[in-house]
Amino acid sequence: MTVDKFTIQSFKSAKAKRQPISMLTAYDYTTATLLDEAGVDSILVGDSLGMTMLGYDNTLRVTMEDMLHHTRAVARGTRRALLISDMPFLSYHVSVEESVRNAGRFIQEGMAEAVKLEGGADVIEKIRAIIKAQIPVLGHLGLTPQSLNMFGGFKVQGKDLEAARRLIDDALLIQDAGVFGIVLECVPDPLAQVISQKLEVPTIGIGAGPHCDGQVLVIQDLAGMFRKLKPKFVKTYATLGDNMVAAAKSYIDEVRTGQFPGPEHSFQMDADLLSKL
Ligand code: KIV
Repeated sequence: MTVDKFTIQSFKSAKAKRQPISMLTAYDYTTATLLDEAGVDSILVGDSLGMTMLGYDNTLRVTMEDMLHHTRAVARGTRRALLISDMPFLSYHVSVEESVRNAGRFIQEGMAEAVKLEGGADVIEKIRAIIKAQIPVLGHLGLTPQSLNMFGGFKVQGKDLEAARRLIDDALLIQDAGVFGIVLECVPDPLAQVISQKLEVPTIGIGAGPHCDGQVLVIQDLAGMFRKLKPKFVKTYATLGDNMVAAAKSYIDEVRTGQFPGPEHSFQMDADLLSKL
């Protein structure tokens, strides 16, 4: 079967054709197969896995090994969608050389097709070097969760004139460096619109309103599975968390009452053979 593969060129042409890009996170093989079957354009192995899969309070403790482990699993289940992996905290903050090496590991060991990293002017040398090594980069501006301690919490960014101008400058700067798109997280709608209009590469919004060129959500949020936090920008499309609790309760009940397993779930044996035991 031929697969109409979504690539970084598709990112560019989608913007030109005003076709909104859909992106979702996934962290495991099974979820990746389901999202790919649904036809999502891009799958992001986000470092949000630190919260949704590993139970940390933020993304700062996620390591390269965590990210590579989950990226490989998602890669095995992804065919059509463009597979992007997040570079975790400290994997691109120490030196240009280490940043390129770590980005390369996502391609070579993780089977990702691109990497995402957070920041603008502060990480520009790293972005340039990674792209020079032929590794496509998706930028990430606005609320960049790896800078949580500098921001003093998960807060909407770009709300005053200076901060809004800095965001626009950063977006143009990393576009010039060659990123193929930019995630805008928790940015006021009108500012996201201005940035999207100024850029040639697509913006992918999360909490950045309807004027971005695409949208991204965390799969556990969309599916109603992550109950610890519910940011304003999340729309819950299913109640899989409730369904899972209900299914587990039914199972527990049936185990306790002896209803499960029934004959249809058990293996029988020849009566003659049994009598010889
Ligand atoms: O880590 C992540 O899942 C992300 C998205 C929310 C954009 O960075």
